[in-house]
Amino acid sequence: MKINGHTRVAGIFGDPISHTLSPAMHNAAFMAIGLNAVYVPFHVKADSKGALKAAVESVRAMNMLGVNVTIPHKEAVIRFLDDVDAHALDIGAVNTIVNRDGRLFGCNTDGPGYLLSLRKESGFKPAGKRVVIIGAGGAARGILYSFLGLNPASVVLANRTIKRADLLANEFARKFSVPVETAELDRAVMEKVLNSADLVVNTTSIGMMGKGELGLPLKALPSKAVVSDIVYRPRKTGLIKAAEKMGLKTHTGLGMLIRQGAIGFELWTGKKAPVSVMEKAAVKALRQ
Ligand code: ATR
Repeated sequence: MKINGHTRVAGIFGDPISHTLSPAMHNAAFMAIGLNAVYVPFHVKADSKGALKAAVESVRAMNMLGVNVTIPHKEAVIRFLDDVDAHALDIGAVNTIVNRDGRLFGCNTDGPGYLLSLRKESGFKPAGKRVVIIGAGGAARGILYSFLGLNPASVVLANRTIKRADLLANEFARKFSVPVETAELDRAVMEKVLNSADLVVNTTSIGMMGKGELGLPLKALPSKAVVSDIVYRPRKTGLIKAAEKMGLKTHTGLGMLIRQGAIGFELWTGKKAPVSVMEKAAVKALRQ
């Protein structure tokens, strides 16, 4: 990488930020396509008053290509942008900002990135299928929203706190005609729910760094069902390992990270993202 007077800057705003794999992924991609650009992590502290506003303003002031936005700024960043994609507004979260000649445009590539990687890696097509989403937090919102746009037969939102699932289901039910049921994350309930599922996806952080167990009764799933997990540290979570053991088709979380990044990369550069280069770089960074 050669930094000179022509180098453009992209980056990521978050707190904490030291764990991010995005710099490895994007810098490898810039190099692979020979683009004079660099991707930098920025620790934009959550408890520092005015920091997020100033950071967003700097994207324009320093003529950056754009940035990713991660925890805990995805919701708060919206009010500082000039234009926001309709889907991101509905979801209430932005993870990618594109600098369009001084106008800052925000969108959310998490849901589209998830669905793209799910289709590419497992061949799963949501239309007419029954989808079970575990969790009702920020990550579930984006994924649920993207699924609802693709005409599944039905979606079940299963969450530890059922009230939160109910609220989310009601909010999105008004926008789509797909039935969204809710369920408690209870073994007996989940046995019934999984019995008719074509896909089950974990959107919670359970299993991250090997911590916690969802304890889903995977035996209840039909044999052709797909088990998906958005957690990518470790690459194979307890849920994925258990599903593999039972001979079920699986889909791991790294693909979502790579595809959401690839969509952002294309928005910033106008060039096709070198997805396999990004994947290799992310896998290498994950091992370090
Ligand atoms: P994110 O933005 O990563 O989705 P979040 O909005 O805090 O984070 O949501 C976390 C999700 O993981 C929620 O669905 C949460 O369930 P609750 O709504 O009941 O809190 C779920 N979650 C986190 N820890 C959990 C645990 N130990 N058992 C079950 N669900 C858990």
